[in-house]
Parts: sequence; C-alpha cells; structure tokens
Amino acid sequence: MTTQHHRPIIIAMTGASGAPYALRLIERLAKQQIQLHVLISDAARVVLDKESDFILTSNVDEMAQEIADFVGVDAKYLTCWGNKDWMSPVASGSADMQDMVVVPCSMGSLARIATGASSNLIERATDVMLKEHKNLVLVPRETPLSEIHLGHMLALSKMGVRMIPAMPGFYHQPESIADLVDFMVDRIMDHLGVDDGGAVRWGKS
Ligand SMILES: Cc1cc2nc3c(=O)[nH]c(=O)nc-3n(C[C@H](O)[C@H](O)[C@H](O)COP(=O)(O)O)c2cc1C
Repeated sequence: MTTQHHRPIIIAMTGASGAPYALRLIERLAKQQIQLHVLISDAARVVLDKESDFILTSNVDEMAQEIADFVGVDAKYLTCWGNKDWMSPVASGSADMQDMVVVPCSMGSLARIATGASSNLIERATDVMLKEHKNLVLVPRETPLSEIHLGHMLALSKMGVRMIPAMPGFYHQPESIADLVDFMVDRIMDHLGVDDGGAVRWGKS
C-alpha cells in the first residue's frame, strides 16, 4: 500500500543515541518519493559515526549524495542545509512547511526547542513549526529522565507536539535490531501521515 503524500518533510537529527532511526526514516520516506529537508547537528555527526560507522562530510553540498548512497535512495529526494543556513525555506513560516520530525532528539535540543532558543537552524525550524501550529514530532531519547527533561516534554506536549520517545516495544517479537528500528519508524511515519505498507500493526497478521 502506498499513501500519496506530496508535502515535503523536514527531518532533523540531533545528538541523542538513535541515528539508525533517522537513517531508516530517510530511506523509507525517500522511497515514497517524498522530498526531504535534512538538518544535522554537530553532535549528531559524532553519534552517527559511533552508531553507524558513517563519517559524514562537513561539506553541505556533498551531504545529500552521501546520505542517499548510505541508505540506498535517490539523492534527488534529499536537500541538506547547514546549521546556520538562514536562507533555507525551513527558517520561515512563509515557506508553509507542514511536517517536521526531530529524530533522535537530544535533551539539549529538547530544552532549546521548549524555550524557543533558536540558536541554530534546527531550533529555528522547530520554532517556526510551533508558531505556525504545524505538525512537529519529537523522538526524545535519554534514560533516566530528569524533572527538567520531563517538564520540557510536558510543556511541548501541551502545545500539540507529538512526543514519540525512542522506546521500541517487544510484543511483535522482533528478530533483529532492524525490527526494533522499524517499530519506531512505523510510529513516526504514522504521525507524519505516511503509510508505505510496511508497518507492523496490532491485530493484523
Ligand atoms: C555517542 C553519544 C551518545 C549520546 N547520547 C545522548 C542521548 O541519548 N541523549 C541525549 O540527550 N544526549 C546524548 N548525547 C549528548 C549530546 O550529544 C550532547 O548533549 C549535545 O550537546 C547535543 O547537541 P545537539 O542537541 O545540538 O545535537 C550523546 C553524545 C554522544 C557522543
């Protein structure tokens, strides 16, 4: 099954553990021929290297091709932006972006998103989504969670942000890490309104 979804989606990776979720999400969305705006924090690059042995170029012009090659999709669906690229469409409400996901979302980024700090393009883009009341999905990851973390999550949830913590379930009897990653990516895609037919759904075999 394929859902028609012509709107571009903003995908931001920050420095929490969970780079494989973002890479798989990029792969599945690009395979649905959805245009993706990809933003990557400096800390996310470090995590990417640690978790996926993927040393991403710092040249923003080469980034889309590298990511596309790594996940196995056509680079024409990816546009990468630098952390201070304020000319990017994701930096303004007038560009009318409808959907953004921060995956994984570090507690640092969570705090800056919750307080509207806007110190880089990822935070500016989330700030735009909040002020325009558009669909913002966060995939926070930390354990244990402090009262500060929980307070930020509650504040954002009250603003309509979809909070999808990186907490894969085991009731579908995963056989691999890829199954656990897809469990999370299925849930994220549901909240972006994209169904590629790959989601494992309760009550359906
Ligand atoms: C390998 C690695 C794993 C990390 N895991 C987490 C994590 O799960 N959650 C978190 O909040 N921070 C984690 N951090 C710390 C963040 O990367 C750090 O706070 C960073 O400043 C976040 O910056 P950013 O939000 O701009 O990406 C990790 C760092 C490294 C190097």
